[in-house]
Amino acid sequence: MKKNLNILLILLFIPLAVLRADEGMWLPSLIGELRIGDMQEKGFRLSADDIYQINQAAITDAVVSFGGFCTGELISAEGLLITNHHCGLGSIQRHSSLENNYLDEGFWAMSREEELPNLELYVRFLREVQDVTETVLEGVEDGITEQSREQIIGRNIRKLQDEAMDRTQWKAVTKSFYYGSEYCMFLYEEFNDVRLVGAPPKAVGNFGGDTDNWIWPRHTGDFSFFRIYADENNNPATYAAENVPYKPRNFLPVSAGGVDTGDFTMVCGFPGNTDQYLLSSDLEMIIGKSLPAKIRIRTERMEVMQNQMDKSDEIQIKYSAKYARVANAWKKWQGVIKGINKVEAIAQKKDYEQKFSGWVCRDPAGRREYENVLDSLECLIKKESDLILAYEYQREILGAIEILRFAGNFMDLVEAFQNREIGEYYLDNTIDIAREQSSDFFKDYTVAIDMEIFRRLLIIYMADLPETYYPVPLQEAMQKYRGDIDGYTTYLFDKTIFSSKEKIMSLLEDPDQADLKKIENDPVFSLARACEDLSAKIRHSYRSITDLKNTIYRLYVKGLREMEPDRGFYADANGSMRIAYGQVRDYRPRDATRYGSLTTLDGIIEKSYLSMEDYIIPEKLRELYEQKDFGPYTVNGKVPVCFIASNHTSGGNSGSPVLNADGHLIGINFDRNWEGTMSDYVYDVNQCRNIVVDIRYVLFIIDKYAGAGHLIDEMKIIPK
Ligand code: ARG
Ligand code: GLU
Repeated sequence: MKKNLNILLILLFIPLAVLRADEGMWLPSLIGELRIGDMQEKGFRLSADDIYQINQAAITDAVVSFGGFCTGELISAEGLLITNHHCGLGSIQRHSSLENNYLDEGFWAMSREEELPNLELYVRFLREVQDVTETVLEGVEDGITEQSREQIIGRNIRKLQDEAMDRTQWKAVTKSFYYGSEYCMFLYEEFNDVRLVGAPPKAVGNFGGDTDNWIWPRHTGDFSFFRIYADENNNPATYAAENVPYKPRNFLPVSAGGVDTGDFTMVCGFPGNTDQYLLSSDLEMIIGKSLPAKIRIRTERMEVMQNQMDKSDEIQIKYSAKYARVANAWKKWQGVIKGINKVEAIAQKKDYEQKFSGWVCRDPAGRREYENVLDSLECLIKKESDLILAYEYQREILGAIEILRFAGNFMDLVEAFQNREIGEYYLDNTIDIAREQSSDFFKDYTVAIDMEIFRRLLIIYMADLPETYYPVPLQEAMQKYRGDIDGYTTYLFDKTIFSSKEKIMSLLEDPDQADLKKIENDPVFSLARACEDLSAKIRHSYRSITDLKNTIYRLYVKGLREMEPDRGFYADANGSMRIAYGQVRDYRPRDATRYGSLTTLDGIIEKSYLSMEDYIIPEKLRELYEQKDFGPYTVNGKVPVCFIASNHTSGGNSGSPVLNADGHLIGINFDRNWEGTMSDYVYDVNQCRNIVVDIRYVLFIIDKYAGAGHLIDEMKIIPK
């Protein structure tokens, strides 16, 4: 019997071990210690030193943080960089005009002279990682408040970073791990002359648009090319025409051999934010309260935008980027809720908490510090839950009203006026900024949309929150209008000068005291100001809870790591470079349905027959397809387009290189599957997939579609 029981136990635990398999995003500096054995067992043919090494060329030397919001990688000795189309979009858009519509037509620099500078853009190479926990925590005593802890830590970090920057001239960034138990300092070399080299038309680069966003099967050619420029000594320099292409320490060879189901894959990039160690009640609050509220609010916003966009092409152009931004998280959140329910993550977490309690009880004296961890967290989560809507609505409702944000900017101007004596220069400067902001704002503004969004969101705000959370002018108005939200909305938008470009621009021509009065007496301005005060108060109360929570989560995770010393914990994403590994793998999204792991050009053509706006393709692509003019970029006669793998990724991993077992580039990461977006909270190897554009599709488009084969000549292609 005992023996049978043992076998049963072993059988029970094997699936758990398998489940953990591909989970995790690991610091490159810890790969050697923690993961390399497992990676090699799964097929990786290189060593930990090939991934990351100080002062020696390694894979991580070919990867950059792209503008702080995406990832990019070097693919030539001449500073050529590839990232996603949606990461380069800002630059592509800024260079586009009606005559040169790079968004619609694509852009390809046929010579270095044609590459386009982007003053707002930077890339950063990670040069060094240091564990600085000891120094950062110097002087932090047990039992001090979280605020004093932050102060001490802040001082220590500043000192450390200043020294490092003096020593290296690199940029130092320190990040906290495991809720502030550990700290690492990252040293980055930053380059500011980054030029646009090429981008496909959006019908390729954003094929499928919002319809396919977060969706597998996918067919998007989500890539664009940039080039890093340096001064004559190969050092970072601000833009200058005479700068030369940067010679990187390392660049990634490109695999022409491609991938197949089951192959080892690895992703290296900069994921932004995850929450893997939350308690079940925290997760319950998120999927039961916070996300549904935010989804509902965004549904209203999107409906209003869509109604107006359907009526006018002009509004369509003005609002399509805004709409996409709102829709991206809106769609993701719905996937998160579904995914968490599907894998029964709440129940899983509850079991895990029980396990923790049991572990604490088994040695009450030795584990006394953990005795109250769960109870205290529960109590704080309850408190947070009471405040969560008020907190979220500041951003999702008050922050969603365009005119409030715009009028809020004028607080700087009012202040500059009041402090005139400090210097006319400061005032002039502020006026210049206000002019620029105003012309930007009105370029894409439609008052009818904003007004209707204001009206609808105000209804939600007032229905869900008690009056103590109303900004003062709203309290007063509601008395005056006896709760008539329509009447108040009409009054506000009739009365304000902030909805009129003429009025604002003429006011900014040469503003005087009378103009200042006009601003200060404006009802939208007063509301914006009151919202700002209110938000600051709410943020303050909210932080007093989350700071405490943070302290106790720190203890909780410390306990978990003691409880499972062999598990190999990884810290939540925090914008630092991480390695994830897994394999090309299909999945079952729902009963009786299996999604294959690779898509091809055939799928693009199929979708194009659905006659949907998001699936319109360029004529040239159809011609290539019909003439089977595929060049060498085929497998069994078909052009590969995208694939999925089980790499644990998150927002910020866009543009990350996806590498094979030899460290060759096989694709560019750009999304996750809808059923797997909950991986920011719980990763499940059967459901979670990252979506990758196949490098062979990239090569096909530049060569066959764009005739930009000179870019391929620059790369190091590893033949099939
Ligand atoms: N969902 C991807 C990422 O967060 C891609 C977003 C851009 N693409 C789009 N069709 N909106 O962020
Ligand atoms: N598209 C996301 C980004 O821009 C990556 C997708 C994800 O969240 O996994 O970072």
